Amino acid sequence: MEQASERPLVELRSVTKSFPGVVANDCVDLVLYRGEVLALLGENGAGKSTLMNILCGLYRQDSGEIYVRGHKAQIHSPKDSRRLGIGMVHQNFKLVDSMTVLENIILGIEEQKFVPDMKKVKAEVLDLSHKYNLKVNPEASIWQLSVGEQQRVEILKLLYRKADILILDEPTAVLTPQESHELAKVVHSLRAEGKSAIFITHKMEEVMKFSDRVMVLRKGAVVAQTVTEATSPAALAKMMVGREILFDLDKKPFAPGEPVLVLRGVSALDDRGLPALKDVDLTVRAGEVIGVAGVAGNGQRELAEAITGLRKVKSGEIRIDGKDITNKSPLTVIKAGTAHIPQDRSSVGAVGDMSVASNLAMKQYRRKPLSFGIFLLPRRIAQMARRLIETFKISTPGPETRVKFLSGGNIQKTILAREIGACKKLLVAVYPSRGLDVGATEAVRKQLIAQRDQGLGVLFVSEDIDELVQVADRIAVMFEGRIMAILDSTSCDEETIGLLMAGVKTP
Ligand SMILES: Nc1ncnc2c1ncn2[C@@H]1O[C@H](COP(=O)(O)OP(=O)(O)OP(=O)(O)O)[C@@H](O)[C@H]1O
Ligand SMILES: [Mg+2]
Repeated sequence: MEQASERPLVELRSVTKSFPGVVANDCVDLVLYRGEVLALLGENGAGKSTLMNILCGLYRQDSGEIYVRGHKAQIHSPKDSRRLGIGMVHQNFKLVDSMTVLENIILGIEEQKFVPDMKKVKAEVLDLSHKYNLKVNPEASIWQLSVGEQQRVEILKLLYRKADILILDEPTAVLTPQESHELAKVVHSLRAEGKSAIFITHKMEEVMKFSDRVMVLRKGAVVAQTVTEATSPAALAKMMVGREILFDLDKKPFAPGEPVLVLRGVSALDDRGLPALKDVDLTVRAGEVIGVAGVAGNGQRELAEAITGLRKVKSGEIRIDGKDITNKSPLTVIKAGTAHIPQDRSSVGAVGDMSVASNLAMKQYRRKPLSFGIFLLPRRIAQMARRLIETFKISTPGPETRVKFLSGGNIQKTILAREIGACKKLLVAVYPSRGLDVGATEAVRKQLIAQRDQGLGVLFVSEDIDELVQVADRIAVMFEGRIMAILDSTSCDEETIGLLMAGVKTP
Protein backbone atom coordinates (compact mmCIF):
# COMPACT_ATOMS: atom_id res chain seq x y z
CA MET A 1 0.00 0.00 0.00
CA GLU A 2 0.88 3.60 -0.50
CA GLN A 3 3.06 5.25 2.09
CA ALA A 4 3.62 8.94 2.18
CA SER A 5 7.35 8.61 2.66
CA GLU A 6 7.81 6.01 -0.05
CA ARG A 7 9.28 6.89 -3.41
CA PRO A 8 6.86 6.32 -6.31
CA LEU A 9 7.60 3.33 -8.52
CA VAL A 10 6.32 5.13 -11.60
CA GLU A 11 5.79 8.81 -12.01
CA LEU A 12 4.46 10.67 -15.01
CA ARG A 13 5.04 14.40 -15.00
CA SER A 14 2.97 16.63 -17.20
CA VAL A 15 2.66 14.12 -20.03
CA THR A 16 1.00 15.54 -23.13
CA LYS A 17 0.11 13.78 -26.37
CA SER A 18 -1.88 15.08 -29.32
CA PHE A 19 -3.28 13.42 -32.41
CA PRO A 20 -4.62 15.36 -35.39
CA GLY A 21 -7.66 17.17 -34.04
CA VAL A 22 -7.45 15.92 -30.42
CA VAL A 23 -5.38 16.38 -27.31
CA ALA A 24 -5.50 12.83 -26.01
CA ASN A 25 -3.42 13.53 -22.88
CA ASP A 26 -3.19 17.00 -21.45
CA CYS A 27 -0.42 17.59 -18.86
CA VAL A 28 -1.13 14.35 -17.00
CA ASP A 29 0.59 13.69 -13.67
CA LEU A 30 0.35 10.15 -12.37
CA VAL A 31 2.04 8.22 -9.58
CA LEU A 32 2.03 4.52 -8.88
CA TYR A 33 3.49 3.03 -5.71
CA ARG A 34 4.88 -0.44 -5.13
CA GLY A 35 2.21 -2.98 -4.21
CA GLU A 36 -0.82 -0.95 -5.13
CA VAL A 37 -3.55 -1.12 -7.72
CA LEU A 38 -4.48 2.16 -9.34
CA ALA A 39 -7.78 2.28 -11.21
CA LEU A 40 -7.78 4.57 -14.23
CA LEU A 41 -11.24 5.80 -15.10
CA GLY A 42 -12.69 8.03 -17.77
CA GLU A 43 -15.27 8.22 -20.51
CA ASN A 44 -14.73 6.63 -23.91
CA GLY A 45 -12.04 8.68 -25.61
CA ALA A 46 -10.81 10.29 -22.37
CA GLY A 47 -7.24 9.21 -23.15
CA LYS A 48 -6.71 6.17 -20.90
CA SER A 49 -5.33 3.78 -23.53
CA THR A 50 -3.16 6.49 -25.04
CA LEU A 51 -1.55 7.27 -21.68
CA MET A 52 -0.84 3.60 -21.04
CA ASN A 53 0.47 3.12 -24.58
CA ILE A 54 2.99 5.86 -23.85
CA LEU A 55 4.10 4.08 -20.70
CA CYS A 56 4.56 0.82 -22.57
CA GLY A 57 6.43 2.38 -25.48
CA LEU A 58 3.89 2.16 -28.29
CA TYR A 59 3.48 5.93 -28.46
CA ARG A 60 5.89 8.69 -27.57
CA GLN A 61 4.67 11.69 -25.58
CA ASP A 62 4.94 15.14 -27.18
CA SER A 63 6.17 16.55 -23.88
CA GLY A 64 6.49 15.59 -20.24
CA GLU A 65 8.67 13.13 -18.35
CA ILE A 66 8.48 9.60 -17.07
CA TYR A 67 10.33 8.37 -13.99
CA VAL A 68 10.60 4.71 -13.08
CA ARG A 69 12.13 3.68 -9.73
CA GLY A 70 13.30 7.24 -9.27
CA HIS A 71 15.21 7.46 -12.55
CA LYS A 72 14.19 9.40 -15.58
CA ALA A 73 13.17 6.89 -18.23
CA GLN A 74 13.50 7.15 -21.98
CA ILE A 75 10.83 4.87 -23.35
CA HIS A 76 11.16 4.72 -27.11
CA SER A 77 9.87 1.24 -27.75
CA PRO A 78 8.04 -1.66 -26.06
CA LYS A 79 11.45 -3.18 -25.51
CA ASP A 80 12.55 -0.19 -23.41
CA SER A 81 9.45 -0.42 -21.29
CA ARG A 82 9.84 -4.18 -20.88
CA ARG A 83 13.34 -3.67 -19.53
CA LEU A 84 11.89 -1.38 -16.91
CA GLY A 85 9.56 -4.16 -15.79
CA ILE A 86 6.45 -2.71 -17.42
CA GLY A 87 4.00 -5.03 -19.16
CA MET A 88 0.60 -4.33 -20.66
CA VAL A 89 -2.45 -6.38 -21.58
CA HIS A 90 -4.03 -4.39 -24.38
CA GLN A 91 -7.69 -3.59 -24.92
CA ASN A 92 -7.54 -5.74 -28.05
CA PHE A 93 -5.27 -8.68 -27.39
CA LYS A 94 -2.13 -8.95 -29.43
CA LEU A 95 -1.71 -12.72 -29.61
CA VAL A 96 -0.90 -14.63 -32.79
CA ASP A 97 -3.89 -16.89 -33.49
CA SER A 98 -2.15 -19.69 -35.32
CA MET A 99 0.62 -20.13 -32.76
CA THR A 100 0.50 -22.01 -29.47
CA VAL A 101 0.32 -20.54 -26.01
CA LEU A 102 4.01 -21.25 -25.37
CA GLU A 103 5.12 -19.80 -28.69
CA ASN A 104 3.16 -16.65 -27.95
CA ILE A 105 4.69 -16.35 -24.53
CA ILE A 106 8.27 -16.37 -25.82
CA LEU A 107 7.46 -14.35 -28.94
CA GLY A 108 9.37 -11.10 -29.13
CA ILE A 109 11.82 -11.68 -26.30
CA GLU A 110 14.80 -10.20 -28.11
CA GLU A 111 17.28 -10.87 -25.35
CA GLN A 112 17.46 -14.56 -26.13
CA LYS A 113 20.43 -15.55 -28.25
CA PHE A 114 19.71 -19.26 -28.58
CA VAL A 115 16.77 -21.36 -29.59
CA PRO A 116 14.72 -21.49 -26.40
CA ASP A 117 14.53 -24.75 -24.53
CA MET A 118 10.79 -25.36 -24.86
CA LYS A 119 10.74 -27.92 -22.08
CA LYS A 120 12.12 -25.39 -19.68
CA VAL A 121 9.77 -22.68 -20.91
CA LYS A 122 6.84 -25.03 -20.50
CA ALA A 123 7.83 -25.99 -16.97
CA GLU A 124 8.18 -22.36 -16.03
CA VAL A 125 4.86 -21.41 -17.60
CA LEU A 126 3.09 -24.28 -15.86
CA ASP A 127 4.65 -23.14 -12.64
CA LEU A 128 3.33 -19.61 -13.05
CA SER A 129 -0.01 -20.91 -14.24
CA HIS A 130 -0.30 -23.01 -11.12
CA LYS A 131 0.95 -20.35 -8.75
CA TYR A 132 -1.49 -17.70 -9.92
CA ASN A 133 -4.33 -20.02 -10.80
CA LEU A 134 -4.21 -18.98 -14.47
CA LYS A 135 -5.39 -22.23 -16.01
CA VAL A 136 -4.54 -22.78 -19.65
CA ASN A 137 -3.18 -25.56 -21.85
CA PRO A 138 0.34 -24.45 -22.94
CA GLU A 139 0.21 -26.58 -26.11
CA ALA A 140 -3.11 -25.23 -27.37
CA SER A 141 -3.25 -22.84 -30.30
CA ILE A 142 -4.64 -19.41 -29.52
CA TRP A 143 -7.60 -19.77 -31.88
CA GLN A 144 -8.82 -22.71 -29.83
CA LEU A 145 -9.06 -20.66 -26.64
CA SER A 146 -11.95 -18.69 -25.22
CA VAL A 147 -11.47 -14.97 -24.66
CA GLY A 148 -11.01 -15.57 -20.96
CA GLU A 149 -8.25 -18.09 -21.62
CA GLN A 150 -6.54 -15.77 -24.10
CA GLN A 151 -6.44 -13.16 -21.42
CA ARG A 152 -4.78 -15.58 -19.04
CA VAL A 153 -2.13 -16.14 -21.71
CA GLU A 154 -1.56 -12.38 -21.94
CA ILE A 155 -1.08 -12.19 -18.20
CA LEU A 156 1.19 -15.25 -18.12
CA LYS A 157 3.26 -13.64 -20.83
CA LEU A 158 3.86 -10.60 -18.63
CA LEU A 159 4.65 -12.71 -15.60
CA TYR A 160 7.04 -14.87 -17.62
CA ARG A 161 8.88 -11.69 -18.52
CA LYS A 162 9.00 -10.79 -14.84
CA ALA A 163 7.04 -7.59 -15.25
CA ASP A 164 6.27 -6.00 -11.90
CA ILE A 165 4.33 -3.03 -13.25
CA LEU A 166 1.24 -4.45 -14.93
CA ILE A 167 -1.12 -2.43 -17.05
CA LEU A 168 -4.50 -4.00 -17.71
CA ASP A 169 -6.60 -2.12 -20.26
CA GLU A 170 -10.25 -3.03 -19.73
CA PRO A 171 -9.45 -6.63 -18.92
CA THR A 172 -12.94 -7.40 -17.69
CA ALA A 173 -14.89 -5.92 -20.62
CA VAL A 174 -14.77 -9.28 -22.38
CA LEU A 175 -15.06 -11.53 -19.33
CA THR A 176 -18.04 -13.21 -17.74
CA PRO A 177 -18.77 -12.17 -14.14
CA GLN A 178 -17.21 -15.45 -12.94
CA GLU A 179 -14.04 -14.85 -14.94
CA SER A 180 -13.85 -11.28 -13.62
CA HIS A 181 -14.07 -12.65 -10.13
CA GLU A 182 -11.17 -15.00 -10.86
CA LEU A 183 -9.16 -12.12 -12.28
CA ALA A 184 -9.76 -10.10 -9.12
CA LYS A 185 -8.13 -12.91 -7.15
CA VAL A 186 -5.13 -12.97 -9.49
CA VAL A 187 -4.66 -9.20 -9.19
CA HIS A 188 -4.89 -9.40 -5.42
CA SER A 189 -2.26 -12.12 -5.19
CA LEU A 190 0.06 -10.16 -7.50
CA ARG A 191 -0.35 -7.15 -5.29
CA ALA A 192 0.34 -9.18 -2.18
CA GLU A 193 3.72 -10.02 -3.73
CA GLY A 194 4.58 -6.38 -4.15
CA LYS A 195 3.72 -6.06 -7.83
CA SER A 196 1.79 -2.99 -8.91
CA ALA A 197 -0.99 -2.58 -11.44
CA ILE A 198 -2.86 0.07 -13.35
CA PHE A 199 -6.33 -1.19 -14.05
CA ILE A 200 -8.69 0.37 -16.58
CA THR A 201 -12.39 -0.37 -16.35
CA HIS A 202 -15.80 1.19 -16.91
CA LYS A 203 -17.44 -0.79 -14.15
CA MET A 204 -17.63 1.09 -10.87
CA GLU A 205 -18.10 -2.01 -8.72
CA GLU A 206 -14.80 -3.30 -10.07
CA VAL A 207 -13.03 -0.10 -9.13
CA MET A 208 -14.30 -0.59 -5.61
CA LYS A 209 -13.28 -4.26 -5.60
CA PHE A 210 -9.91 -4.12 -7.38
CA SER A 211 -8.21 -0.86 -6.54
CA ASP A 212 -6.47 1.04 -3.77
CA ARG A 213 -6.63 4.41 -5.46
CA VAL A 214 -8.55 5.92 -8.37
CA MET A 215 -7.61 8.51 -10.92
CA VAL A 216 -10.18 10.00 -13.30
CA LEU A 217 -9.41 11.45 -16.72
CA ARG A 218 -11.76 13.70 -18.63
CA LYS A 219 -10.93 14.94 -22.13
CA GLY A 220 -7.29 14.03 -21.61
CA ALA A 221 -6.77 15.78 -18.27
CA VAL A 222 -6.80 14.51 -14.70
CA VAL A 223 -10.00 15.72 -13.05
CA ALA A 224 -9.95 13.75 -9.81
CA GLN A 225 -7.85 11.46 -7.65
CA THR A 226 -8.90 9.69 -4.52
CA VAL A 227 -8.33 6.74 -2.26
CA THR A 228 -10.88 4.09 -3.22
CA GLU A 229 -12.14 3.72 0.32
CA ALA A 230 -13.17 7.36 0.35
CA THR A 231 -15.44 7.24 -2.70
CA SER A 232 -18.54 5.51 -4.06
CA PRO A 233 -19.72 4.26 -7.47
CA ALA A 234 -22.15 7.16 -7.84
CA ALA A 235 -19.48 9.72 -6.95
CA LEU A 236 -17.05 8.17 -9.44
CA ALA A 237 -19.62 8.20 -12.23
CA LYS A 238 -20.24 11.86 -11.59
CA MET A 239 -16.52 12.68 -11.65
CA MET A 240 -16.16 10.94 -15.00
CA VAL A 241 -19.08 12.41 -16.81
CA GLY A 242 -19.36 15.72 -15.00
CA ARG A 243 -23.05 15.17 -14.30
CA GLU A 244 -25.32 12.91 -12.27
CA ILE A 245 -25.90 9.55 -13.94
CA LEU A 246 -29.39 8.22 -13.52
CA PHE A 247 -29.19 4.55 -12.94
CA ASP A 248 -33.01 4.60 -13.23
CA LEU A 249 -34.77 4.81 -16.55
CA ASP A 250 -38.37 5.77 -16.90
CA LYS A 251 -40.15 3.40 -19.16
CA LYS A 252 -43.66 3.54 -20.50
CA PRO A 253 -45.77 0.45 -19.84
CA PHE A 254 -45.43 -1.77 -22.83
CA ALA A 255 -48.12 -2.41 -25.39
CA PRO A 256 -46.90 -5.31 -27.50
CA GLY A 257 -48.22 -5.89 -31.01
CA GLU A 258 -47.85 -8.76 -33.45
CA PRO A 259 -44.96 -11.22 -33.14
CA VAL A 260 -41.91 -10.10 -35.14
CA LEU A 261 -39.67 -13.01 -34.23
CA VAL A 262 -40.85 -16.54 -33.64
CA LEU A 263 -38.60 -19.51 -32.90
CA ARG A 264 -40.08 -22.99 -32.77
CA GLY A 265 -38.06 -25.96 -31.58
CA VAL A 266 -34.74 -24.52 -32.70
CA SER A 267 -31.61 -26.60 -32.15
CA ALA A 268 -28.08 -25.73 -33.27
CA LEU A 269 -24.47 -26.72 -32.67
CA ASP A 270 -21.60 -24.57 -31.44
CA ASP A 271 -18.24 -24.13 -33.20
CA ARG A 272 -16.90 -27.35 -31.75
CA GLY A 273 -19.92 -29.30 -32.98
CA LEU A 274 -21.57 -29.69 -29.58
CA PRO A 275 -25.25 -28.91 -28.99
CA ALA A 276 -25.57 -25.20 -28.17
CA LEU A 277 -29.29 -24.63 -28.61
CA LYS A 278 -31.75 -27.29 -27.55
CA ASP A 279 -35.32 -27.06 -28.72
CA VAL A 280 -35.72 -23.32 -28.16
CA ASP A 281 -39.16 -21.71 -28.39
CA LEU A 282 -39.27 -17.93 -28.17
CA THR A 283 -41.48 -15.11 -29.39
CA VAL A 284 -40.58 -11.43 -29.54
CA ARG A 285 -43.47 -9.10 -30.30
CA ALA A 286 -43.41 -5.65 -31.82
CA GLY A 287 -42.98 -3.05 -29.09
CA GLU A 288 -41.32 -5.26 -26.51
CA VAL A 289 -37.83 -5.92 -25.25
CA ILE A 290 -37.10 -9.54 -24.49
CA GLY A 291 -34.05 -9.82 -22.31
CA VAL A 292 -31.93 -12.94 -22.50
CA ALA A 293 -30.22 -13.69 -19.20
CA GLY A 294 -27.60 -16.32 -18.60
CA VAL A 295 -23.96 -16.89 -17.82
CA ALA A 296 -22.00 -16.41 -21.08
CA GLY A 297 -21.55 -19.65 -22.97
CA ASN A 298 -25.02 -21.03 -22.37
CA GLY A 299 -26.19 -20.58 -25.95
CA GLN A 300 -26.86 -16.83 -26.09
CA ARG A 301 -24.30 -16.22 -28.81
CA GLU A 302 -25.56 -19.13 -30.92
CA LEU A 303 -29.14 -17.93 -30.43
CA ALA A 304 -28.30 -14.50 -31.83
CA GLU A 305 -26.29 -16.04 -34.67
CA ALA A 306 -29.06 -18.47 -35.63
CA ILE A 307 -31.57 -15.63 -35.80
CA THR A 308 -29.32 -13.39 -37.87
CA GLY A 309 -28.34 -16.07 -40.37
CA LEU A 310 -24.76 -16.45 -39.16
CA ARG A 311 -25.27 -19.98 -37.87
CA LYS A 312 -27.14 -22.88 -39.43
CA VAL A 313 -29.78 -24.57 -37.31
CA LYS A 314 -30.15 -28.33 -37.22
CA SER A 315 -33.86 -28.38 -36.67
CA GLY A 316 -36.74 -26.06 -35.93
CA GLU A 317 -38.04 -22.95 -37.59
CA ILE A 318 -37.33 -19.22 -37.34
CA ARG A 319 -39.73 -16.60 -38.66
CA ILE A 320 -39.27 -12.85 -38.84
CA ASP A 321 -42.43 -10.89 -39.44
CA GLY A 322 -44.13 -14.08 -40.63
CA LYS A 323 -41.41 -14.91 -43.16
CA ASP A 324 -39.55 -18.19 -42.81
CA ILE A 325 -35.87 -17.27 -42.61
CA THR A 326 -34.57 -20.58 -41.23
CA ASN A 327 -31.05 -21.16 -42.57
CA LYS A 328 -31.33 -18.20 -44.93
CA SER A 329 -28.33 -15.94 -45.60
CA PRO A 330 -27.50 -12.99 -43.32
CA LEU A 331 -28.42 -10.65 -46.19
CA THR A 332 -31.92 -12.15 -46.40
CA VAL A 333 -32.32 -11.65 -42.68
CA ILE A 334 -31.12 -8.04 -42.93
CA LYS A 335 -33.61 -7.45 -45.74
CA ALA A 336 -36.35 -8.84 -43.53
CA GLY A 337 -35.63 -5.84 -41.26
CA THR A 338 -33.16 -7.20 -38.73
CA ALA A 339 -30.17 -5.44 -37.22
CA HIS A 340 -27.51 -7.19 -35.16
CA ILE A 341 -25.08 -5.82 -32.62
CA PRO A 342 -22.70 -8.79 -32.48
CA GLN A 343 -20.82 -10.08 -29.49
CA ASP A 344 -17.50 -10.13 -31.32
CA ARG A 345 -17.05 -6.61 -32.49
CA SER A 346 -13.46 -6.73 -33.55
CA SER A 347 -13.94 -9.15 -36.43
CA VAL A 348 -17.44 -8.51 -37.71
CA GLY A 349 -18.11 -5.08 -36.34
CA ALA A 350 -16.35 -2.22 -38.02
CA VAL A 351 -13.89 -1.71 -40.87
CA GLY A 352 -10.94 0.13 -39.37
CA ASP A 353 -9.57 1.48 -42.61
CA MET A 354 -12.86 3.05 -43.63
CA SER A 355 -14.16 6.39 -42.39
CA VAL A 356 -16.68 6.76 -39.61
CA ALA A 357 -19.22 7.97 -42.19
CA SER A 358 -18.72 4.95 -44.46
CA ASN A 359 -18.99 2.59 -41.54
CA LEU A 360 -22.21 4.25 -40.47
CA ALA A 361 -23.66 4.04 -43.99
CA MET A 362 -22.52 0.48 -44.62
CA LYS A 363 -25.94 -1.07 -44.11
CA GLN A 364 -28.03 1.54 -45.85
CA TYR A 365 -26.13 2.68 -48.87
CA ARG A 366 -27.97 0.29 -51.15
CA ARG A 367 -31.22 2.13 -50.73
CA LYS A 368 -32.75 5.57 -50.72
CA PRO A 369 -32.10 8.19 -49.50
CA LEU A 370 -28.35 7.42 -49.54
CA SER A 371 -28.31 6.27 -53.13
CA PHE A 372 -30.35 6.71 -56.26
CA GLY A 373 -30.12 3.84 -58.68
CA ILE A 374 -26.43 3.01 -58.86
CA PHE A 375 -25.36 6.44 -57.63
CA LEU A 376 -24.28 7.11 -54.07
CA LEU A 377 -25.25 10.46 -52.68
CA PRO A 378 -22.23 11.56 -50.62
CA ARG A 379 -23.90 14.63 -49.19
CA ARG A 380 -26.77 12.55 -47.83
CA ILE A 381 -24.28 10.06 -46.40
CA ALA A 382 -22.38 12.87 -44.68
CA GLN A 383 -25.63 14.28 -43.34
CA MET A 384 -26.71 10.96 -41.91
CA ALA A 385 -23.26 10.40 -40.43
CA ARG A 386 -23.31 13.76 -38.70
CA ARG A 387 -26.75 13.03 -37.27
CA LEU A 388 -25.70 9.63 -35.89
CA ILE A 389 -22.40 10.99 -34.51
CA GLU A 390 -24.43 13.60 -32.65
CA THR A 391 -27.16 11.24 -31.39
CA PHE A 392 -24.75 8.60 -30.18
CA LYS A 393 -22.11 11.09 -29.02
CA ILE A 394 -19.36 9.38 -30.98
CA SER A 395 -16.22 11.24 -30.12
CA THR A 396 -14.31 11.65 -33.40
CA PRO A 397 -12.48 14.56 -35.02
CA GLY A 398 -14.97 14.25 -37.90
CA PRO A 399 -17.04 11.92 -40.11
CA GLU A 400 -14.04 11.36 -42.40
CA THR A 401 -11.72 10.07 -39.65
CA ARG A 402 -10.80 6.43 -40.10
CA VAL A 403 -12.42 4.18 -37.52
CA LYS A 404 -9.14 2.64 -36.40
CA PHE A 405 -8.12 5.97 -34.91
CA LEU A 406 -11.09 6.08 -32.55
CA SER A 407 -10.94 4.88 -28.95
CA GLY A 408 -12.26 1.37 -28.21
CA GLY A 409 -15.57 2.58 -26.86
CA ASN A 410 -16.14 4.95 -29.73
CA ILE A 411 -15.62 2.18 -32.29
CA GLN A 412 -18.33 0.34 -30.48
CA LYS A 413 -20.65 3.32 -30.49
CA THR A 414 -20.15 3.52 -34.26
CA ILE A 415 -21.39 -0.05 -34.67
CA LEU A 416 -24.30 0.57 -32.36
CA ALA A 417 -25.32 3.70 -34.23
CA ARG A 418 -25.15 1.93 -37.56
CA GLU A 419 -27.19 -1.06 -36.44
CA ILE A 420 -29.81 0.83 -34.46
CA GLY A 421 -30.05 3.40 -37.24
CA ALA A 422 -30.70 0.71 -39.86
CA CYS A 423 -33.19 -1.34 -37.89
CA LYS A 424 -36.72 -1.79 -39.24
CA LYS A 425 -38.36 -4.69 -37.40
CA LEU A 426 -36.08 -6.57 -35.07
CA LEU A 427 -32.98 -5.55 -33.17
CA VAL A 428 -30.73 -8.30 -31.83
CA ALA A 429 -28.31 -6.74 -29.35
CA VAL A 430 -25.66 -8.94 -27.76
CA TYR A 431 -23.92 -7.31 -24.77
CA PRO A 432 -24.37 -3.87 -26.38
CA SER A 433 -22.95 -1.92 -23.46
CA ARG A 434 -19.67 -3.85 -23.10
CA GLY A 435 -16.74 -1.49 -23.07
CA LEU A 436 -18.92 1.60 -22.91
CA ASP A 437 -18.57 4.25 -20.23
CA VAL A 438 -21.43 4.91 -17.81
CA GLY A 439 -22.85 7.79 -19.85
CA ALA A 440 -22.83 5.79 -23.07
CA THR A 441 -24.29 2.75 -21.30
CA GLU A 442 -27.17 4.89 -20.10
CA ALA A 443 -27.64 6.16 -23.66
CA VAL A 444 -27.67 2.63 -25.11
CA ARG A 445 -30.28 1.47 -22.63
CA LYS A 446 -32.41 4.47 -23.49
CA GLN A 447 -32.00 3.71 -27.20
CA LEU A 448 -33.16 0.12 -26.77
CA ILE A 449 -36.27 1.35 -25.00
CA ALA A 450 -36.79 4.07 -27.62
CA GLN A 451 -36.67 1.44 -30.38
CA ARG A 452 -39.25 -0.62 -28.54
CA ASP A 453 -41.47 2.43 -28.10
CA GLN A 454 -41.31 2.93 -31.85
CA GLY A 455 -42.70 -0.54 -32.33
CA LEU A 456 -39.60 -2.63 -32.97
CA GLY A 457 -39.04 -5.99 -31.38
CA VAL A 458 -35.82 -6.07 -29.37
CA LEU A 459 -33.87 -9.14 -28.28
CA PHE A 460 -31.37 -8.00 -25.70
CA VAL A 461 -28.66 -10.35 -24.42
CA SER A 462 -26.92 -9.32 -21.21
CA GLU A 463 -25.27 -10.79 -18.14
CA ASP A 464 -26.15 -7.87 -15.97
CA ILE A 465 -29.36 -8.74 -14.15
CA ASP A 466 -29.95 -5.15 -13.01
CA GLU A 467 -29.68 -3.95 -16.58
CA LEU A 468 -32.07 -6.64 -17.80
CA VAL A 469 -34.69 -5.88 -15.18
CA GLN A 470 -34.41 -2.20 -16.03
CA VAL A 471 -34.62 -2.45 -19.80
CA ALA A 472 -36.50 -5.65 -20.67
CA ASP A 473 -40.23 -6.27 -20.51
CA ARG A 474 -39.82 -10.02 -20.24
CA ILE A 475 -36.69 -11.99 -19.41
CA ALA A 476 -35.81 -15.38 -20.88
CA VAL A 477 -33.23 -17.19 -18.79
CA MET A 478 -30.89 -19.55 -20.65
CA PHE A 479 -28.99 -22.46 -19.22
CA GLU A 480 -27.07 -25.03 -21.24
CA GLY A 481 -28.81 -24.17 -24.48
CA ARG A 482 -32.35 -24.23 -23.11
CA ILE A 483 -34.71 -21.52 -22.04
CA MET A 484 -35.37 -22.28 -18.40
CA ALA A 485 -38.20 -19.78 -17.96
CA ILE A 486 -39.58 -16.53 -19.30
CA LEU A 487 -40.31 -14.05 -16.54
CA ASP A 488 -42.14 -10.77 -16.35
CA SER A 489 -39.50 -8.15 -15.50
CA THR A 490 -41.80 -6.08 -13.31
CA SER A 491 -42.61 -8.94 -10.99
CA CYS A 492 -39.53 -11.18 -11.01
CA ASP A 493 -36.80 -10.98 -8.41
CA GLU A 494 -33.07 -11.17 -8.97
CA GLU A 495 -32.64 -14.21 -6.82
CA THR A 496 -34.98 -16.25 -9.01
CA ILE A 497 -33.12 -15.14 -12.12
CA GLY A 498 -29.80 -16.02 -10.50
CA LEU A 499 -31.02 -19.50 -9.59
CA LEU A 500 -32.38 -20.13 -13.08
CA MET A 501 -29.07 -18.96 -14.56
CA ALA A 502 -27.37 -21.61 -12.47
CA GLY A 503 -29.76 -24.23 -13.80
CA VAL A 504 -31.94 -24.51 -10.71
CA LYS A 505 -35.61 -24.86 -11.57
CA THR A 506 -37.90 -22.83 -9.34
CA PRO A 507 -41.56 -23.60 -8.83
N1 LIG B 1 -3.52 6.41 -33.26
C1 LIG B 1 -4.39 7.41 -33.13
N2 LIG B 1 -4.55 8.32 -34.10
C2 LIG B 1 -5.41 9.36 -33.96
N3 LIG B 1 -6.17 9.57 -32.87
C3 LIG B 1 -6.06 8.69 -31.86
C4 LIG B 1 -5.16 7.57 -31.93
N4 LIG B 1 -5.27 6.88 -30.77
C5 LIG B 1 -6.18 7.52 -30.01
N5 LIG B 1 -6.66 8.62 -30.67
C6 LIG B 1 -7.64 9.59 -30.12
O1 LIG B 1 -7.22 9.97 -28.83
C7 LIG B 1 -8.34 10.10 -27.94
C8 LIG B 1 -8.14 9.22 -26.73
O2 LIG B 1 -8.24 7.85 -27.14
P1 LIG B 1 -7.98 6.64 -26.14
O3 LIG B 1 -7.99 5.41 -26.97
O4 LIG B 1 -6.79 6.93 -25.33
O5 LIG B 1 -9.31 6.70 -25.23
P2 LIG B 1 -9.76 5.75 -24.04
O6 LIG B 1 -9.87 6.59 -22.83
O7 LIG B 1 -8.89 4.56 -23.98
O8 LIG B 1 -11.26 5.35 -24.49
P3 LIG B 1 -12.07 3.94 -24.44
O9 LIG B 1 -12.71 3.88 -23.09
O10 LIG B 1 -13.14 4.14 -25.47
O11 LIG B 1 -11.13 2.84 -24.74
C9 LIG B 1 -9.57 9.76 -28.78
O12 LIG B 1 -10.16 10.94 -29.20
C10 LIG B 1 -9.01 8.99 -29.96
O13 LIG B 1 -9.82 9.17 -31.09
MG1 LIG C 1 -9.20 2.54 -24.41
